[in-house]
Amino acid sequence: MSLSLTEKQELTQAAQLAARQAYAPYSQFRVGAAVLGENKLYIGVNVENASYGLALCAERAALASAIAQGEKNIKAIAIACLDAKDVQGMFPCGACRQWMAELAKNAEIIIVGSDRTFTLDELLPFSFELHTKLSNNLS
Ligand code: THU
Repeated sequence: MSLSLTEKQELTQAAQLAARQAYAPYSQFRVGAAVLGENKLYIGVNVENASYGLALCAERAALASAIAQGEKNIKAIAIACLDAKDVQGMFPCGACRQWMAELAKNAEIIIVGSDRTFTLDELLPFSFELHTKLSNNLS
């Protein structure tokens, strides 16, 4: 089921606004993400650390927030990179794609600044999956 234009605009705006709160003193690369659940929105930003490898991406922050609040159906994710120089710099990293495969397999992915939306299958074909996962109520 695809998103309405209003939902897309709301998500886009939420991701852009969130990105302004990014904690990115090392890279100066601000990212915001907005996740649309069944009927609620969750945001996340990238949070860096003096120990560089500990940086948390915006997408994973938003997904974790959705899960923490009991969300069971993630319908869409918007990602806004305020400081990207080109569209290539706006796509989610591999780790975030794998998180989406786990928690938001059917989500519509909005890359703010791109002229189209994406499915996870397009961004992460042949994704890794374990078949030992017990039922978790996520769709
Ligand atoms: N970053 C994200 O927040 N999401 C991505 O998908 C790619 C990278 C952040 C991590 C780091 O704080 C900064 O962007 C530069 O890599």
